[in-house]
Order: sequence, then structure tokens, then C-alpha cells
Amino acid sequence: MTDHYAVIGNPISHSKSPLIHTEFAKQTGQDIDYIAREIPLDDLIAGLEQLQAEGFKGINITVPFKEQVWQYVKNKSAHAERAGAVNTLIFNDDGTLYGDNTDGIGLCRDLVDNHQVELAGKRLLLLGAGGAARGVIEPLLSYKLSELVIANRTASKAEELADLFSEFGTIKGGGFNDIKGQFDVIINATAASLQGEVPPLPENILNQNSSCYDMMYSNTDTAFIIWAKQQGAAKSIDGLGMLVEQAAEAFSIWRGVKPNTKSVIDLTRSHVI
Ligand code: ATR
Repeated sequence: MTDHYAVIGNPISHSKSPLIHTEFAKQTGQDIDYIAREIPLDDLIAGLEQLQAEGFKGINITVPFKEQVWQYVKNKSAHAERAGAVNTLIFNDDGTLYGDNTDGIGLCRDLVDNHQVELAGKRLLLLGAGGAARGVIEPLLSYKLSELVIANRTASKAEELADLFSEFGTIKGGGFNDIKGQFDVIINATAASLQGEVPPLPENILNQNSSCYDMMYSNTDTAFIIWAKQQGAAKSIDGLGMLVEQAAEAFSIWRGVKPNTKSVIDLTRSHVI
């Protein structure tokens, strides 16, 4: 019997997740289908109950519901608990829910495995202190960075995140004005790219081997990728690989089999308009 999965969000028509998971299913021989469903902004809980009543086995959650699902689901992985957001949900047969968050693992796999960006011992700058930034902090710190600096337009939010994750590594928070020195890796987790903007960053914060990563992706270079290239970054990477890798981890949580991502990243890239 075919097992049903879905991604929920609002809006959702642009989602590449059905394409990605359908490819994973073909590749691994898993008998599943996967749809995108838009949930009204003010009706998340009814939407979740409806999916459960329809017999769905699990769902992915995207903007703007990740934090709300985190609040609603009591039973979560320790990592999802700290991330403050849930992007992967299991509907258990006994009616209970289990929440996880695969965004951070997805980012790290794309950086380290797909793009050979070393993290251990490196100094890393994370731009932004919203949900997207918070979700990746603990997985990044697990690579034993020398230091993680979080910089945000609203400095106090970056300082709060640094406090929250201080037990996991050397971490500091502040405003863009507080950025000092050079970084091996810079990750953009701000929503500035959505508006075609780049946070106001000091000059000369990259060295000749630095890598820059934008968690956003587009069919043309994002504003942050353009900035990274202008600054001479050795690698400038957008977030499409992270999207596919977080999906692969969710698929693996649900189905117990880890798909290959390389060909699916290429296929997804060809569908970005
Ligand atoms: P998400 O879940 O995508 O992280 P969010 O929680 O609304 O969304 O956070 C958006 C992040 O992008 C925040 O860090 C925000 O900075 P503030 O905390 O100061 O609001 C940042 N951001 C949004 N637009 C920005 C811009 N034009 N320049 C710099 N930072 C921006």
C-alpha cells in the first residue's frame, strides 16, 4: 500500500519538495507519494488534524509554520527542541506526533560533503538571528568550529541566540558593526536576499580561502552570492543543496533509507525558475 507524505506551507505552490521526494522514492524503490498542501495562515492545527485523519504518515513543514508546529508538538528530538522549529513530523500509528528538524543537518551536509567546505577549527560568521539561523547553530557547532559569530540587524537577538547555545561551543553575538576580523565561512540566514539586499558588512572579512553560503537559492545569483563573488570568495554556494539534503534526512527518518542526493540536486536545479 502506498504511504502518503506532504509538505505544508503558505504559500506552497513554488515548493520543490514533491519533485525531490518523488525522485528519492523512485531511486530507493519506496512506495510513497508526496504532495504540497497549502494550509490557511490561521488554521494550522485543523490542517494537521485533517492530514492525520486522511492517513498521512508524515509531513514536512515550511514557511511560515515551523515555529507554530514546534509549539504544538510536545514530543520532539532534542535537536528540534533547541532549534525552536520543526520541519519534519511523523504521524505515528497510535495517533501521536513526533517532531524533528533536518535543516541544520542539511546545511552541514551540503557544505561539508557536497562542497568540501571544512568546518572543524574554522571561524564562522552566521548572518541573521531569526528562525532560519537558530535552526542551524547546534549542527554547525557540532563540527568543532574555532568560533561562531552571529551578527544581526537587531544585535540583541544575536546576543540572545549566542547565550542560548553557549554550552555547545565558542559563540558570540552582536550587530553588523561589531563584526571584527576575517572568517573562513560566512553563512547568510537573513531574509535580506528576499528583498535583493545584502546586510551591511565590513570590507575585508574574507580571506582567500573563504567560503560563502546563502541559505536562499535562485536561478540567478542572489544579492549575497553577488557580494561574495565581488569580495573574492573561494566558494560561493546557494541553498539549493541544503533544500535537497534536508529532504534526504527527512526521507531517511521516515523510511529508514538514505537516498543519494547528487542527481536530485542537479534535477532540482533544472526546475528552479
Ligand atoms: P526566518 O525564519 O527566515 O529566519 P525571521 O525569523 O523573520 O525569518 O528572521 C529574518 C532574519 O532576517 C532576521 O535576522 C532579520 O533581522 P532582524 O532580526 O533585525 O529583523 C533579518 N533581515 C530581514 N531583512 C533584512 C535586511 N534587509 N537586512 C538585514 N537583515 C535582515
